[in-house]
Amino acid sequence: MSDIQKKRIYWSLGFLFFSLGIAYLLWPKQVLEPVSVDRVFSNAPWAKPVPNLPPLAGVGEVRAENCGRCHTEIYQEWKTSTHANALSDIQFQSELTKSSSPKWLCLNCHTPVANQRENLVNYLQNGDYKLPIEEKNPHFDPKMKSEAITCAACHVRLDEQGNSYVIGANGNTKPPHPVRIQPEKLKDRCLDCHNANYELDDQLVCAFKTGKELQSSKSTHGKETCGSCHMQEIERKFVKSELGTPVRTGHKHAFIGGGVPKRFDLYEKQIPGGYQIGLKVDPILWDLAKDKLEYSVSFKNEKAAHNIPTGDPERFLLGRVSILDARGKLLEKKEIKFGQEWEWYPKARLIADTRILPGETKNWNGSFSVPSSPAKVVLEFYHVRLKESNAEYMRKGNDLATEEFKRMISKIEDHYPFSSIVYKEEVDLRTHKRKLYSPKELIRISSDRRGE
Ligand code: HEC
Ligand code: HEC
Ligand code: HEC
Ligand code: HEC
Ligand code: HEC
Repeated sequence: MSDIQKKRIYWSLGFLFFSLGIAYLLWPKQVLEPVSVDRVFSNAPWAKPVPNLPPLAGVGEVRAENCGRCHTEIYQEWKTSTHANALSDIQFQSELTKSSSPKWLCLNCHTPVANQRENLVNYLQNGDYKLPIEEKNPHFDPKMKSEAITCAACHVRLDEQGNSYVIGANGNTKPPHPVRIQPEKLKDRCLDCHNANYELDDQLVCAFKTGKELQSSKSTHGKETCGSCHMQEIERKFVKSELGTPVRTGHKHAFIGGGVPKRFDLYEKQIPGGYQIGLKVDPILWDLAKDKLEYSVSFKNEKAAHNIPTGDPERFLLGRVSILDARGKLLEKKEIKFGQEWEWYPKARLIADTRILPGETKNWNGSFSVPSSPAKVVLEFYHVRLKESNAEYMRKGNDLATEEFKRMISKIEDHYPFSSIVYKEEVDLRTHKRKLYSPKELIRISSDRRGE
């Protein structure tokens, strides 16, 4: 090979590597261009957490624990709420720690203040929600992280100078911390998380429409806000009595919902926290002729200004009519479900929705052919959060969860109520006597149940 030929080869090789180098430098930039979260998710208040909040004058770090030094009763109520338990929720941990879950997005609603986040996401590679660019957060507060939907998520914001202030709803109070009276802002905050409709991709869809449901019930429920029912009024001092403030009209902070708490020990807090069933159920009608029993059940969504159930698409209300013999043995039962049905593949799609609309009355009729002497008819309603089939799916796949959560997920039925019984009525077919279970009795039965 001549020198010229050799040189040519070196040159060509050199050129080849040079071109590859240039291509390498240009290629990834084109493919992985960072796009800001604000641009990808415009109009989605949950796309980012509340910005880092510096210590609040007169209080210190904006942790719930600190607010609780003075607002003792509110703090104790809030501690029992699903909000305060939204991060330690076993089902949430199980879903969050699947490798496919967009953790940064999930956390924006379940731990919504930047101080609660080790890492912050301001940019996405190529605008893809699955490729977040994480930056360390120098203001991360691990204590505050565990508080999940903490006081500051609703109550603390930054003023024009970048100082923290409290959003209040009353005025004429003398707090030791800065406060601005913005009642509408405070009350509308619920919708940021409870009215989120968004299609991330074909399978991942956020479909919380409780705000829309409330909007369309205006004719029956007037000007009610979420708080009208979920933060009941209560006459008390806003702070511990040593501070000498007057009794005012305040609000419970237990945020009780459908009566299915996140831990068994929280059942006892449901009624004091303000739980009430949304349905008004008429006494069951029945007719026993020869070997046939006909029944008719009528119930109305009287107390919820939104569908029952609302929120998470997995939930449903299960109605059950059963016939028992004299010894209490089940002879036969009939069931009916009210909820949503989704098809997830190839594209998430709501295919049926039998939930009970605000003000709507449902009638359910049926009949049994009665085999032997029936003694009792029983009508029950269950509010179901988690089905056994989904629990089984969780027990199988939670590789990224911490050891503590893995252990709990593997025995989820011992830690996590799947459903609650919210209505029960028994009729003795011979004496025609009725027994209606009280909310207290139902809560006790529910807290003793395990699994479905
Ligand atoms: C050192 C005691 C103290 C601490 C700590 C404290 N507060 Fe207060 N706060 C008060 C007092 C006192 C009032 C006035 C109560 C009154 O006059 O009835 C008040 C009033 C309020 C109000 C009602 C304002 C209105 O007019 O509607 C809100 C809301 C509030 N605080 C939230 C918070 C939050 C959130 C925190 C924690 C970040 C916090 N507070 C920490 C003492 C405290
Ligand atoms: C930052 C997001 C966020 C905001 C703001 C918010 N919530 Fe929630 N809320 C949640 C999440 C997340 C859950 C469910 C947590 C879970 O199941 O672990 C929840 C659950 C609930 C529940 C169900 C409780 C139960 O046990 O069934 C009620 C009721 C509720 N919220 C009411 C409200 C009201 C009223 C407001 C406004 C005053 C509000 N929420 C504001 C995120 C939020
Ligand atoms: C007129 C009273 C009323 C108003 C207003 C109201 N709710 Fe409810 N809500 C209820 C009742 C009653 C229940 C319990 C329903 C049941 O399961 O029987 C409930 C249940 C819930 C649940 C639990 C759902 C479930 O299926 O487990 C959530 C979450 C909730 N409400 C959120 C909200 C939000 C957010 C708003 C505002 C957009 C709101 N509610 C407005 C009365 C109300
Ligand atoms: C999910 C949102 C949310 C969370 C979390 C929350 N609050 Fe509130 N809070 C409200 C709303 C809404 C009101 C106003 C209710 C009204 O006036 O109708 C309120 C009212 C108050 C008031 C005025 C008195 C009263 O009871 O109406 C105080 C004080 C207060 N909150 C303190 C706290 C403290 C302390 C925490 C944490 C332990 C906390 N809040 C957590 C939404 C929230
Ligand atoms: C837009 C705010 C928002 C985002 C983002 C969000 N959630 Fe939630 N999540 C909620 C609210 C609100 C509830 C309670 C709904 C209700 O009770 O109606 C909830 C409830 C839950 C529950 C409890 C369901 C039940 O029936 O009790 C789980 C589990 C959960 N979320 C997991 C996730 C996961 C995993 C992600 C990320 C893929 C995520 N969430 C993202 C707002 C959000």
